[in-house]
Amino acid sequence: MKILGTGSALPKKTVSNDMLSEFLDTSDEWITTRTGIKSRQIITDERFEDLAALAGERAIQAAGLSADDIDYIVCSNVANCYITPSLASLVQGLLGIKGPSCPTMDINSACAGFVYGLDLCDALLQTSRASHILYVCAEEVTRFVDWNQRETCVLFGDGAGAMVLGKGDNLLSCKLTSVPMADVITYRLPLEPTPYETGEGIDTHLPMQLKGREVFRNAVNCAQRDIADVIAKAGLTADDIDHFLLHQANLRIVEAIREHMGLPEERFHSNIQRRGNTSSASIPILLDEVVREGKIKRGDLLLFDGFGAGFVTGAAVVRY
Ligand code: ACO
Repeated sequence: MKILGTGSALPKKTVSNDMLSEFLDTSDEWITTRTGIKSRQIITDERFEDLAALAGERAIQAAGLSADDIDYIVCSNVANCYITPSLASLVQGLLGIKGPSCPTMDINSACAGFVYGLDLCDALLQTSRASHILYVCAEEVTRFVDWNQRETCVLFGDGAGAMVLGKGDNLLSCKLTSVPMADVITYRLPLEPTPYETGEGIDTHLPMQLKGREVFRNAVNCAQRDIADVIAKAGLTADDIDHFLLHQANLRIVEAIREHMGLPEERFHSNIQRRGNTSSASIPILLDEVVREGKIKRGDLLLFDGFGAGFVTGAAVVRY
């Protein structure tokens, strides 16, 4: 695969830490020191699928293509209000992508979804199942957190990041892992009991469960390992990588990895300060911002790294 164009779209409502401390027992000082987050965009009266489609439309424009050129749509999403149809099908309808044949599918690999999807798209392109894939990562996490739970709700933001991928050999290396650790991050939808059961044991309120410290430790350890592995697999050294774009879960995670590698700040990009954690959308939103700021040039080497509920991890080296 190669990246032909990128796009992103964010909700219009910006919520600062001070705004959260109006109704939560929290403070700008706590959130900034522990996470680096100062504000985030939160979905309000927008439709989530419109944000995903807008990010996709911008990526198609940036690629110099039109909707008619897209012959596959893949979306990465953890949860949205539609269990079915897929987000990819909704995006297809909103962008009027018809084509003689344009399959659509969603993947859910939590916050590592972006890298998992990249690997999948590369395989689809290599086997000629597709020639131009619209790949959208979109999340509305803030509609699924418990707004009384200060441990989780302050961490997240919403948004969509997208790219158009075409045939090429710019995915230089990729590594995906999964270790079952369901208790570390869990979010389950409440279920309705059937007429054939008592309803006992079926929860109607299931807030997100997050063992922050364990996630933090795993994230740092796995990212250090995966980053070293994909760089070596590509036959490169860390000094060859121009830009590191890591999942934006906590600025301290990014900093811990950068310091461990002994690399300068300017090669590690971050936007968590303004965006919060947008799950699988965080890396493609960050990439689009950095590309549009002119910081990334064609031919530069990018390193992506993601991790999340599962516990799943993914890293990739890509020539832009
Ligand atoms: N405001 C004020 N105090 C708070 C808040 C808040 N929003 N949230 C928790 N606290 C309190 C706790 O109650 C606790 O109080 P206590 O000491 O009296 O018991 C204290 O702050 C410390 O809580 P910890 O959870 O130990 O804080 P920690 O330093 O570990 O930071 C955090 C928590 C930010 C979640 C961190 O563990 C982290 O970044 N983890 C990894 C990232 C993560 O979990 N991301 C979530 C999404 S999953 C993903 O993207 C992969």
